[in-house]
Amino acid sequence: MSIGLDIGSKTIKLVELSFDGGRNILKSAGVVGFAGTSVENAQDDKSYATLVDAIKKLIHDTKVSSREVDIAIPESQSFTRVIKFPLLSDPEIASAVKWEAEQYIPIPISEAIIQHEIVERREKTSPPEVLVLLVAAPRALVEKYVNVTGQAGLTAGAVETSLIALTRSLAPANQTSVLVDMGARTTSMALAKNGQLVFSRTIPTAGAAFTRAVGQALGVPEAQADSYKMTYGLSTKQLEGKVAAAINPVFTLITEEIKKAIHYYQTELQGEMPTSVILAGGSAGLPNLVSNLTKAIGIEVVIGNPFAKVVVDPTTTKKLAAYSPLYSIATGLALRRD
Ligand SMILES: Nc1ncnc2c1ncn2[C@@H]1O[C@H](COP(=O)(O)OP(=O)(O)OP(=O)(O)O)[C@@H](O)[C@H]1O
Ligand SMILES: [Mg+2]
Repeated sequence: MSIGLDIGSKTIKLVELSFDGGRNILKSAGVVGFAGTSVENAQDDKSYATLVDAIKKLIHDTKVSSREVDIAIPESQSFTRVIKFPLLSDPEIASAVKWEAEQYIPIPISEAIIQHEIVERREKTSPPEVLVLLVAAPRALVEKYVNVTGQAGLTAGAVETSLIALTRSLAPANQTSVLVDMGARTTSMALAKNGQLVFSRTIPTAGAAFTRAVGQALGVPEAQADSYKMTYGLSTKQLEGKVAAAINPVFTLITEEIKKAIHYYQTELQGEMPTSVILAGGSAGLPNLVSNLTKAIGIEVVIGNPFAKVVVDPTTTKKLAAYSPLYSIATGLALRRD
């Protein structure tokens, strides 16, 4: 059994998988919203209370059989960079990363947890080079997530960044694609090549910004704005297009960032043009988002199926359908096999 727990700023998602005969099988999945302080903003144990209660409820409702969970830390709080090295051996790269990490991450090395992964060995380029993915997170932040998990009666196993988990569940094996997680507070995007994260970027603009824009433009309270957003989204045929017009500037901002990420990957990292954009997160459900993004970016856009690499029986799929894009990070965590 393995369990992935994705603690967002608005909702908490859980996915439990079992591993049988080489297949990953979905055992349970659940989501719970909470309106308390998020992990990043919590200052002391007391401010976690709402969150801890929500996690306990989720564990109870999903009836999971184990208490050990793998957790994700938000991309917005971590630092992911691709660095180019000359063609060195793996141990040489490990030691170069150790010595050079300081210049790439904005926090003191002594306060960070640092990992690296070899992305690509390019022996035929001139000069030959190795692309290395450097991931760093503040130790104090990781401890906060582990602490919250512990308070909910769980043991944290692996901790990884949300986009590494997302890449595991959504990235196609033989393509380059852009994965976009549109949550409540942040939108994070990853370029993934052949199932491997090669570049990432995150912006503090997502579902909450859509809701705020609708609320301001139509002069309605948050709950009403949220409901307009989810019902009409970017559809210009509804409510005289007022909701779409309010959301559009925020949508454009996010679109431009996705384009910039693709451009950066192509120019700075000499990458190829991705063939698709794969969406995840609650805001992926915004009406007309897929068609508008397709028009704006010019490549295929789809809502990712978090269970593409998992066996699910059809009755469970039906029950999950409405929420499905929410589970991609939790599934990616549960798909770890270590
Ligand atoms: N059908 C829908 N259409 C538009 N937006 C939606 C829909 N369903 C959910 N959302 C929005 O999705 C957001 C929640 O998504 P999600 O659960 O992925 O966020 P989170 O993981 O808690 O946030 P973050 O990752 O930013 O911390 C909210 O802003 C919510 O309004
Ligand atoms: Mg999230």
